[in-house]
Amino acid sequence: MKKTIGLILMTFCIVLTTNAYNGDGVSFNDGWLFHKGEAEGAENAQYQDKSWEKLNLPHDWAIYGPFDIKYNPRCGGLPFYGTGWYKKYFTAKKSWEGKTVRIAFDGAMSNSYVWINGHFLGNRPYGYIGFEYDVTKYLKPGKENVLAVRLTPKDLSSRWYPGAGIYRNTWIKIDDAVHVGQYGTSITTPTLTEELGVVQIETELVNNSASDKNVIVKHQITNKKGELVLTLKDKVHIKANSEGLSQIYSPLENPELWSIENPALYKVKTIVLEGNKECDVFNSRFGFRTIRFEHDGFFLNNKKVHFKGVCLHMDNGPLGVELNIRSDQRKLEILKSMGVNAIRTSHNPQSPEFLDLCDEMGFIVLDEAFDEWEMPKVENGYHVWFDKWAVTDIKDMVRRDRNHPSVIMWSLGNEIREQNDKQKGWTVAKKLGDAVRTIDLTRPVTCGMDVYPAPFNDNFAQQLGISGINYKPGYYAELYKKYPDLLYYGSETESCTSSRGIYHLPVEKYQTHKSKQVTSYDIVCPSYAYPPDIEFFYEKQNPQIMGGFIWTGFDYLGEPTPYGEIDNWPSRSSYFGAVDLAGFPKDRFYLYQSEWTKKPMVHILPHWNWKGMEGNNIPVFVYTNADEVDLFLNGKSLGKKVKGVDKTTIPVHFSNYTGDTFNSPYRLSWNVPYKKGSLTAKAYKNGLLVAEQNVNTAGKPEKVIMSPDRKIIKADGKDLSYITVRIEDKEGNLCPNADNLVHFSVKGDGILKAVGNGNSVTTESFQDNKRKAFSGMCLLIVQSKNQPGIISVKASSNDLSSSKIEIETVR
Ligand code: GAL
Repeated sequence: MKKTIGLILMTFCIVLTTNAYNGDGVSFNDGWLFHKGEAEGAENAQYQDKSWEKLNLPHDWAIYGPFDIKYNPRCGGLPFYGTGWYKKYFTAKKSWEGKTVRIAFDGAMSNSYVWINGHFLGNRPYGYIGFEYDVTKYLKPGKENVLAVRLTPKDLSSRWYPGAGIYRNTWIKIDDAVHVGQYGTSITTPTLTEELGVVQIETELVNNSASDKNVIVKHQITNKKGELVLTLKDKVHIKANSEGLSQIYSPLENPELWSIENPALYKVKTIVLEGNKECDVFNSRFGFRTIRFEHDGFFLNNKKVHFKGVCLHMDNGPLGVELNIRSDQRKLEILKSMGVNAIRTSHNPQSPEFLDLCDEMGFIVLDEAFDEWEMPKVENGYHVWFDKWAVTDIKDMVRRDRNHPSVIMWSLGNEIREQNDKQKGWTVAKKLGDAVRTIDLTRPVTCGMDVYPAPFNDNFAQQLGISGINYKPGYYAELYKKYPDLLYYGSETESCTSSRGIYHLPVEKYQTHKSKQVTSYDIVCPSYAYPPDIEFFYEKQNPQIMGGFIWTGFDYLGEPTPYGEIDNWPSRSSYFGAVDLAGFPKDRFYLYQSEWTKKPMVHILPHWNWKGMEGNNIPVFVYTNADEVDLFLNGKSLGKKVKGVDKTTIPVHFSNYTGDTFNSPYRLSWNVPYKKGSLTAKAYKNGLLVAEQNVNTAGKPEKVIMSPDRKIIKADGKDLSYITVRIEDKEGNLCPNADNLVHFSVKGDGILKAVGNGNSVTTESFQDNKRKAFSGMCLLIVQSKNQPGIISVKASSNDLSSSKIEIETVR
């Protein structure tokens, strides 16, 4: 009896969230069971799973830790490999009889095996790709059914933290026998001027019934205000148990163009009708925009756009890879404020929701498929699956993502080893490129190449529409000269490293530092890499280059270069980001901002707390987009400097670069004899003061101050408020070296979701109710519950005055 009650509680209930722009699914995320470890036979209903953990998806089992050196520090030192099982009991409604029922996974990490009611449905190895199964014939209508998923991610399968588990959304799709297939609409705009756009919609239809069908495919197109602007109808005859295609196009007057500044989107509601009966409703979205890749650059709607791009891995620091829309949205908001306009999804497809956000927020996207082809980088990497799955995976990526106006290129891979292989290189590139072109001819294919000149001489680069160059800015000019028929952009640039708020003197480039941190003077990079200044310089010298994608926008879990070896533990996350793992900007963020944005800004580094260094020269760097800056110490001018004229010599040394220094026109600097007090930078444009920043010597830590990024969030059990926590002195100055332990209490209508601080060298748990400050700051993430109300948050630390805030959650 008890068992029955338990099962009723787990029973399937439809939550009214739909898979908005990519189909017609209903969320299947709630009410799962999870077991970490092997559970032979668990796919069967009789299996005793009562003790399994109850949870809702998305779920990343590895982010809950604990951190341990025995897990690969290069993958974040978290338990991301082993076996994990998920099960869901649900009742198939009687009304589903005669329908087609599919269950879709947007991604499961990794190597999934799926069963329904004990019947094996299939295996899908690549953790970054979506897949679905038609479960119709195994379903028991009116009865309880059980879906089981076994994941078997392996150690040495990734070069970064891949996460683990069913970490993206899952969906159930209940349609008539005649319905739109998976990723079944392809929407293009073959003709487009300001006055007229032609929208063309191809719809792939499936008829699972034993009789031929005549259906009407009706598309209702609405603009961003929700107004119906076009209705299209097409008649299609589909044979029994086969597939059909509807192709229809129509002009639309004065279409609103999708652009970075005004990302106007159109929605398409596709209704499949048999007589008056609605068989399926399928949602898609698209934008009117043109893209052109020319010898003098990239053009969006005939306007030249320089890629101010960042590479991004998928994780969201303290939240791991567990999909959360707000978390991705915040990431993109922060990058937008840095001046970023382009994202490279290194080195794999990101979630559909991530691309939705790029569409909505106005980013262009380089959508990347793989980090490996047949030749390995890591022992159990994608090469194991390449032969069997690569073409299917890349086609699924293109089919899934083809309607996103943000996506402008398809990347076949990153630094794949075959670049050096005369035969395999170009043949595999051609095979993958051809696979993409069978689906989409509107965007070019590309690949991030780090080898030079082999791929250009061996017909590899010639397979690509656009050549992506990794870490070779010094060759841009030569490339245009030697291979004038090709087009170029920096698919991966810089790889500069730093730890937020950490400054090592003197300013010098080193391999590693005993603290396992990296100085934030923005000069330390691996042997093949270089500071941002170098890329700025070479891109300016070669204005036809389409721009580049820095490695990376945000820090990510794993790949803690220049550390990451066993004796560097607990160094476990990257130092590459312009923004740290908690989402706090590092100094480099402002260096990019100074080149990529127009709104006046000025930024001073380092902090001004150098007790014991009185009278010693402290190098002070200033980043600005203004013309000139006057720096003041305690009100006394240290002299004006002019951007571009007064240069700063920085140590630069990397392969392909002659010399050991670079005179950077992008940084202003002063050597300031240290005296406590206040440093002020006043920035002038056309002689007018346009921006000012003050950095004061902070006194001793006095208080904990919290500032939420949003005080009102949705009461949907998903939304997040990111609370920045600062340790301040009594005047309100940030204490830049403070590492006080802060305790959190979260009560009411929300939960403590995670904590962080951007420190790459710590094994503190992300789910604890306390966190040490790092360079004076830490982060608390709270999540709403399903009911509206108030979340009361308190932050306290020994000997400091505590603080309290309230976050409201609303429907
Ligand atoms: C590149 C590689 C990236 C990352 C980066 C670190 O060569 O493509 O995935 O490893 O180096 O500098």
